[in-house]
Amino acid sequence: MQQPIRIAASILAADFACLGSEVRAVTDAGADYIHLDVMDGHFVPNLSFGPDVIKAMRGQSDLPFDVHLMIGPVDPYIADFAAAGADIITVHPEAGAHVHGTLQQIAKAGRKAGVALNPGTPVEILDNLLDLLDLVLVMTVNPGFGGQTFIDSQLAKISAVRQRIDVSGRPIDLSVDGGIKPETAALAIAAGADVLVAGTSVFRGAEGSYAKNIARLRNP
Ligand code: DX5
Ligand code: ZN
Repeated sequence: MQQPIRIAASILAADFACLGSEVRAVTDAGADYIHLDVMDGHFVPNLSFGPDVIKAMRGQSDLPFDVHLMIGPVDPYIADFAAAGADIITVHPEAGAHVHGTLQQIAKAGRKAGVALNPGTPVEILDNLLDLLDLVLVMTVNPGFGGQTFIDSQLAKISAVRQRIDVSGRPIDLSVDGGIKPETAALAIAAGADVLVAGTSVFRGAEGSYAKNIARLRNP
C-alpha cells in the first residue's frame, strides 16, 4: 500500500562548503530522509563523496540516512557504508555480478536494503528480489548528475512497481529519484510513489526557503 509521502533531501545539491549546516537545515525544514548519492566516476561519469564524508555528516541529523550507491563493484564497500551510519543502502543491479547476494550482504550488516532501477532497467528484475527489499528506487533520470529532466516514460514503471509491492504485502518504500519538482512530484505520487528524492528543488533559494520547498513537494 502507498504510504504517506516522504521527502528525501539529496545532499548532492547542497553547498559542499558547509555540509553539516546544510544537513541540519533540511532536517529542521521537515525532510524525512537524508539522501546521499555516492558516485565513483566509473559506474557513473561523476565523482561525489564516500563513507568518511557520510560519517562526518552522521552526527548532524537523527533522520534516516538513505545512501544511494552508484559505484561498481559495490560489494567490497557495503560494510564501510554500514559503519559510516547508513540506515538504508541502495544498489544498482548492474553494479555487481550477483545483486541478490549484495542485498543479503546489506541485511547481514543490519541495514535496510534497496535496489535502484535505471530508466533502461526492466521492472521484472524485482520479481526475484522483493522478499529482500525495503526500498525500490525508480530512477527518472540516468544516474550521475543532479538537475536533469524527469523522464516521463518511467511513470509506467512506477505503476508496475507499485503493483508488485502491493501484491507482496511488504512495507517497501517506492522512491523516485531525478528531476522531481512540484509538477513531476504530482505525477510520481499519482503513479504510486511514496518517497520523493529531490536535490535541486529542495536546495533552491536561501536556507530560509527549504521548508517551503519541501512542503510544496509533499503536497504538490
Ligand atoms: C542522480 C542522483 C539524484 C540527484 C537528483 O544520479 O541519484 O539523487 O541528486 O537531483 P535532482 O533532484 O536535482 O534531479
Ligand atoms: Zn540518488
